Amino acid sequence: MPLLAASTQRNLGMAIAVVAIVGFAIYLIYNVLWAGREERGSELELAPNRKPYMNDQELETRRLDLALAGGLATLVIIGVALPLYWLGEPGRQQGYVEDSRRQFTSRGGEMFEEQCSDCHGGGGLGGSTATTIVDDSGNFVTPVQWEVPALTTTLYRFSEDEVRHILNYGRPPTPMQAWGAPGGGPLTTQQVDELIQYIQSIQLSPEEVEQEVLDGLILQVRGDVLEANPELGARLAEANDAVRQAGADEAAAEAAARNLAAVEQEIRETSEQYIRDLPGVDGASAARGELLFNNGVYGCARCHTPRDSWRFTVPEEAPGEDPKTYEQGSPEEAEVVARLGSLIPEREPGGGAFGPNLTNGSTKRQFDTAGDHAGFVAEGSQEGKAFGNFGQGDGGGQMPAFGVCVGDRDSGERSPIHGFCTLTDGSPRPGMLTPEQIDDIVAYERGL
Ligand code: HEC
Ligand code: HEC
Repeated sequence: MPLLAASTQRNLGMAIAVVAIVGFAIYLIYNVLWAGREERGSELELAPNRKPYMNDQELETRRLDLALAGGLATLVIIGVALPLYWLGEPGRQQGYVEDSRRQFTSRGGEMFEEQCSDCHGGGGLGGSTATTIVDDSGNFVTPVQWEVPALTTTLYRFSEDEVRHILNYGRPPTPMQAWGAPGGGPLTTQQVDELIQYIQSIQLSPEEVEQEVLDGLILQVRGDVLEANPELGARLAEANDAVRQAGADEAAAEAAARNLAAVEQEIRETSEQYIRDLPGVDGASAARGELLFNNGVYGCARCHTPRDSWRFTVPEEAPGEDPKTYEQGSPEEAEVVARLGSLIPEREPGGGAFGPNLTNGSTKRQFDTAGDHAGFVAEGSQEGKAFGNFGQGDGGGQMPAFGVCVGDRDSGERSPIHGFCTLTDGSPRPGMLTPEQIDDIVAYERGL
């Protein structure tokens, strides 16, 4: 509808312009070719001031009526045209806003694929990047693959200004460099805005977020669940064998695949139950909190646990290919860690990385009660807003908000992000984690 209004107005404008141009052309032609011709006859007879003028009768009735009618007609035109114009104006403005949003999103998307997708993955779905770890004096320590977060929930957790801060200044010393002019990066203010607009366009729905969080937890407990249910593990092995043996027999392959999917579904359901049943006190489970804490881009370890984003690389076998990495917790990784010794930090849970150290009861000193603590995790930090007993709140609000959607917290009505935290049915968009999940994390953190 707004677009229709905009294009109707454009058509009207075109029509008026055409009439004006054609009219002016006719006027010019008439004047130059016709009226401008040489005089025919003596000036004495033809001079306008020599002609007898209209008499009073004519002037005061017919002529006056004509002039008045003309004036009235002009007034009517103005009187009707102005409201009509203003009627269409909101539609035109809306159309303009939507047009420029579309333009920003598509330009931002192109820029993202060029500049960011090598690390953040196509569509911002997450990836990894090769980098080298150096010591304090800049000496080479080891190559690693650095896990790069997906950006599909960024606006649940960071406000527009906070995302702008990340893009402008990067996250030294991680591979996320400064991109905006204020941090010495190559992008203009408008390009940064276009990227933010694009990031908004790839945000997941609340249902998808809930699913992704759960998927991450299920992945973490899978090993334990299979160990606790040997019968389920045996059926999984059988199902996998059947798939392998089915070979070219299409009917058998289909049946085997269906059977494997059924076993996987059962493992999923058993895992969900396992997670629900983890022991807790007063409903909050530190064990579940630990899983949530270590839940990749949906968790806390990537910023609060040293080395959490690192994957040590296998000495290069096939040059040119993506480097292979040792799995975290594998014996091979342990070997590398032992070899590097004190050159790398210890992977102490909550020991502090980009975010502060949370161990030795420090969160209990910062927050007197679990409720205060949970409130901070739900809302995150904000530039210039103190928190807890001695939290400063500087550095651009880089502790994300996990319990409330903050994407449009500081966006004015004209900002493209405005309204992100309201769903289309008018209800508020939920935060990334539920209050219960945050209570679980708090129970875990206060024991660190
Ligand atoms: C060389 C790899 C690399 C490139 C290129 C890169 N990033 Fe990043 N980015 C990272 C890493 C690594 C992190 C996470 C840093 C950390 O561990 O805290 C990150 C973090 C972010 C975050 C914060 C996400 C969060 O949830 O904490 C945003 C937003 C972001 N990048 C946007 C971009 C955009 C937009 C571009 C393109 C202009 C870009 N990045 C290019 C590596 C990269
Ligand atoms: C993107 C990086 C990042 C992630 C992810 C992150 N944090 Fe933080 N966290 C920070 C930063 C930075 C601060 C310091 C904020 C400040 O001082 O303004 C912080 C501060 C905190 C503090 C206050 C510590 C203190 O002593 O002042 C707590 C508690 C905390 N985070 C808990 C969590 C929890 C729980 C999660 C996961 C649900 C989490 N953080 C995920 C970056 C992160």
